[in-house]
Amino acid sequence: MASRSSLTVVLAAGEGTRMRSKLPKVLHTVAGQTLLGHVLLAAPRGEGASLAVVVGPDHQAVIDEVRRIRPDASTFVQRERKGTAHAVLAAREAIAKGADDLLIVFGDTPLVTSGTFERLRDALKDGAALAVLGFRAADPTGYGRLLVENGELVAIREQADASDAERAVTLCNAGMMAFSGRTALQILEQIGDGNSKKEYYLTDAVGIVRKLGLRAAVIETGEDEVRGINTKTQLAEAEAVLQAQLRRAALDAGVTMIAPETVFLSRDTAFGSDVTIEPFVVIGPGVSIGDGAVIHSFSHIVQAQIGRNVSLGPYARIRPGTSLGEGVRIGNFVETKAATLEEGVKVNHLSYVGDAQVGANANIGAGTILCNYDGFDKHRTEIGTGAFVGSNSSLVAPVKIGAGAYIGSGSVITRDVPDDALAVERSEQTVRPGWAQRYREHKAETKKQTGKPKG
Ligand code: UD1
Ligand code: MG
Repeated sequence: MASRSSLTVVLAAGEGTRMRSKLPKVLHTVAGQTLLGHVLLAAPRGEGASLAVVVGPDHQAVIDEVRRIRPDASTFVQRERKGTAHAVLAAREAIAKGADDLLIVFGDTPLVTSGTFERLRDALKDGAALAVLGFRAADPTGYGRLLVENGELVAIREQADASDAERAVTLCNAGMMAFSGRTALQILEQIGDGNSKKEYYLTDAVGIVRKLGLRAAVIETGEDEVRGINTKTQLAEAEAVLQAQLRRAALDAGVTMIAPETVFLSRDTAFGSDVTIEPFVVIGPGVSIGDGAVIHSFSHIVQAQIGRNVSLGPYARIRPGTSLGEGVRIGNFVETKAATLEEGVKVNHLSYVGDAQVGANANIGAGTILCNYDGFDKHRTEIGTGAFVGSNSSLVAPVKIGAGAYIGSGSVITRDVPDDALAVERSEQTVRPGWAQRYREHKAETKKQTGKPKG
């Protein structure tokens, strides 16, 4: 099948009105990826596979998302919403190029898998003009019903147009289908709007296929895979399904999770071997975790590379652009952003490390803050190999701390420090022998005379 060319048309012209949101529906996210992103990632790719996305008017943000994930895709605007077949024909120019298989999928069904795309395409192999994806709905209300006679799909009836007997059918149209490229355009162009909603229904393709003396097939899948998202409740339900799948896949791949139901992953989370994730960890998109790393409880990680044998948290916040080398130790209440920490670096307590390069085996003491922002711009800090930054120091960027240098605790460092130097920035300590004893005696005497408590 791989030699057959394909065009996948993704219908993404939906509004987010039932989501009660200004954001276009398909840009809402589950498992760290937009609804549309999930569909685009499942669609066939590589040689001979092209992709077209139909978007609503004024949906530049949707077009941007398509470009980000599949720069090879073309986009088309459906100016008026006149039904699913009308939406497909917005991509007529792409369809007319005549790929072997034409796949149609909705942009709001994020759980669809590439395996199902393949099964639909395979169903065209033995000469069917159309293969429709069906599922057994627990509650079929609202879905188009697949009417099958003698093992052949004869029609899809929309809820509004169905008889009572047809409404009792539980085999439903998931919305995804594959046309043989040879007859696709001819079939799509014959679809009219003669139904109760005055819309061009893609589902009418089945009747036309039959009229042309061609055959339509049904491929069945589970209801979970074809969940369409229209509301925030459905969004949360899809999230739960996806998280369960991702946790299961991580466990199968050898990740140790004490309480997997409390760990949140992203679709693209990558794990090495022997990774441990303690309870209550959130991993956003773009994270890879190396062999032997341990992520302690209550840590939050987004767009970061965690190296081999890193120990992170509890309570660590690892923000985008962080790269942690082998054996790095990040302790509690540490935040990092756009920072590369080379192997063996330790930041064990209460620190902010942003816009920084930290050399191997440097030690960053408790409460160190990299002051990277001056109210207008961000600036970088470089800390050399083996440097030691004493606790409660502020490094005011841009600044460089040399290899092997020492920073005395409590310093505010505003100028570069050479290799192997000591920099201390604080007033000299004064010591007054016996002062505390004299102070206590004086206070005790005053209290006796006045009868007043201290102060
Ligand atoms: C559709 C199917 C129904 C199926 C159900 C599965 C038709 C006529 N009906 O019904 O058989 O059981 O999906 O969820 O196809 N869209 C556009 N432009 C339009 C209309 C729709 O882009 O003019 C897009 C929507 O954004 C959405 C998809 O097509 O992604 C489906 O449209 P929707 O209105 O949700 O169709 P349903 O009534 O759910
Ligand atoms: Mg729908």
